[in-house]
Amino acid sequence: MEFQIKKGAALKQKSHCLVLGVVEGKFKNELLQQLDLAVAGAFSRATRSKEFSGRKGETLLLHGGKGLSAERVLLYGLGKERSLTLCALRQAASSITKQLAEKQLGSFLLALAQVPIKKSRLSERIQAIAEGVLLADYRYNRYQGKEKPGQPVALDKVGVLIEAEESQAEATTAIGTAEAICAGVCFARDLVNAPGNLKSPEYLAMQAVAMAEQVGIDARLLNKKELERQGFGALLGVAQGSPRDPYLIVLEYHGGTADAKPVALVGKGVVFDAGGISLKPAEKMDEMKMDMGGGAAVLGTIFAAAQLKLPINLVAVVPAVENMPSGSAIRPGDILTSLSGKTIEVLNTDAEGRLILADALTYVDRYQPRVVIDVATLTGACLIALGNHASAVLGNHDGLIRQLIKAGERSGERLWQLPLWEEYAAQITSDFADVKNIGGRLGGTITAAAFLQKFADDYTWAHLDIAGTAWAGSGRAGQPKGGTGFGVRILIEYLRGEVK
Ligand code: BES
Ligand code: MN
Ligand code: ZN
Repeated sequence: MEFQIKKGAALKQKSHCLVLGVVEGKFKNELLQQLDLAVAGAFSRATRSKEFSGRKGETLLLHGGKGLSAERVLLYGLGKERSLTLCALRQAASSITKQLAEKQLGSFLLALAQVPIKKSRLSERIQAIAEGVLLADYRYNRYQGKEKPGQPVALDKVGVLIEAEESQAEATTAIGTAEAICAGVCFARDLVNAPGNLKSPEYLAMQAVAMAEQVGIDARLLNKKELERQGFGALLGVAQGSPRDPYLIVLEYHGGTADAKPVALVGKGVVFDAGGISLKPAEKMDEMKMDMGGGAAVLGTIFAAAQLKLPINLVAVVPAVENMPSGSAIRPGDILTSLSGKTIEVLNTDAEGRLILADALTYVDRYQPRVVIDVATLTGACLIALGNHASAVLGNHDGLIRQLIKAGERSGERLWQLPLWEEYAAQITSDFADVKNIGGRLGGTITAAAFLQKFADDYTWAHLDIAGTAWAGSGRAGQPKGGTGFGVRILIEYLRGEVK
């Protein structure tokens, strides 16, 4: 798919389909009046009959007439002007893309960059439009045969219209930014959607290495032998139930000065979470191939950051394991010695994410990171608390948490803070070890974070629990069913904010 920037009057543009955004009830502008003339009054007839009023998501498709260079015009309702945001614009672009692709239109022209969004720059609006298009064009069809008739077409050329006096360079950069970010999101989605039989820890590691080669960043893999030598006891404990060997994936991107301390990103990489001996119920167990969604987000982020050439240093660490029940698996009651030296009593083998993250969080300390952010599909309790519409954020530094929440609001991937008061830590004290890996039914997302904090308290740290957002159980425009790539957009938005 290729974006093309077009300049000039909308109605003069040749296109298979010209898309105009219409603010609810606002039909009296020059463009819409000219359009009405060009389509012999079909537009005003539709508004008078209330067939089209510009309500959010409403559409009207008109076929061309004299004075119109496009073959058709799609009018897209943007809703009330005061509710227009960059997120709403991104969503509108996704919804338009989905509808036109379903009508077998893979080439169209979007005249949306002038949509009146308060305090927004042209570059931000164009980035939002391009993101909306790219996120809606995504499909995971590796295991499907030829496109069947009636299925949405893959996009070919999408035009973005700017006014003649506006800067082409600004628009080009904005589209490039959207392309880099969405390449990261789609890379993450592909990894999450890959089925468990394909997706061994080794597969994840190989995908990371290939990606690193593509963008010229450093990659290192710690294999089982090396993990044993260094004492990753918690990670190895989880891995021992599976015949597939674990890996620690370490990627480094050097975009900053040599002495600039890096931001470290840590992502949970459980390629399949059967629960281990504390086996999960059968229902929806298939979805547990998404338990590496945090790792995917972290890999997608460093991929995007390298393409954007962000002037920072970045480390991405993904502990990749499979959590399976077997004769060699860890048992409830087992005590593991983690890389930090702290001992962990494993009372439920299904609380495995925090075990592998404990060692990864200890590992990144050697980079003397400025900030550490971990991303993990960590607790079912997070779904109970926030559902599918937000991820939880917790940590030991309120400034960092505030920045992440803001990045979430801007990128459209929302976060909600849960408290991490020290009282919660009482729930994970163990009778036989330094800490236990479950904290009871109450406040499950918080006690999981309290566990991580025991391994992450030497630096500025935040934890994102994306259990409810890494996987879309049902699809919508811009987000087909399956892996979402949640985390990439938020982290890139945060990192770009760090640069300014
Ligand atoms: N990967 C799961 C959490 C999860 C659940 C992610 C649903 C996405 C959707 C995690 O490893 C897990 O099993 N957590 C347990 C912890 C419990 C045993 C303390 C949970 O949430 O039930
Ligand atoms: Mn689990
Ligand atoms: Zn898990």
